[in-house]
Amino acid sequence: MSSSGTNGEARFGREQAWQLLTEWTQGESLRKHALAVETCVAAYGQAEAKRLGLTGPERAEERAALVELYSTTALLHDFDYERHPSLEEHPFVGVRELERLGWPQELRTAILGHAQYSGVPRVTHLDKALFACDELAGFLTACALVKPTKAIADVEVAGVRKKMKDKAFARGVNRQDVIQGAAELGVDLDAHIAFCLEAMKKRAGELGL
Ligand SMILES: [Fe+2]
Repeated sequence: MSSSGTNGEARFGREQAWQLLTEWTQGESLRKHALAVETCVAAYGQAEAKRLGLTGPERAEERAALVELYSTTALLHDFDYERHPSLEEHPFVGVRELERLGWPQELRTAILGHAQYSGVPRVTHLDKALFACDELAGFLTACALVKPTKAIADVEVAGVRKKMKDKAFARGVNRQDVIQGAAELGVDLDAHIAFCLEAMKKRAGELGL
């Protein structure tokens, strides 16, 4: 993930997001969740940059800025959860803090939109990518952790689909949100799972999987 070298944007780069996340979140699993969601959302950011034609060296800065927006949004989507887990407070308290600090509006809107109960609609590709990857990244992590190797490398799409039907497995993950997320993003569910798996496999070391 690139961090912008220019003065103005550097305040809201990946490094700042990570700092804010780890300041508010001590729990290892919530930090890992942020990284897993970031991995998937940033991969969608890369794909979106390509779709928008932000390719080649002359568009490198725009591409990096777009991907960094996706990255930071995902890293921060639950940053207030450890301190303010209630439905009344999460993610509203966090978003107020982000606004106070000057984080961009697209990021804040996407974070509000990932909570179904916020009433904030998901309009942009970023809004939809965050919602689509949030529950799925958690589910894929759970799928890896039940493997003897605990490795994401050993997780396959068919196995994930099978586990989605097993109601006793990873009960905390809302299957309907996963299905709805892919539909809103306009991707086939299997393709979405494969895409996120691929992204997570590339960053397995960092994710501890
Ligand atoms: Fe989340």
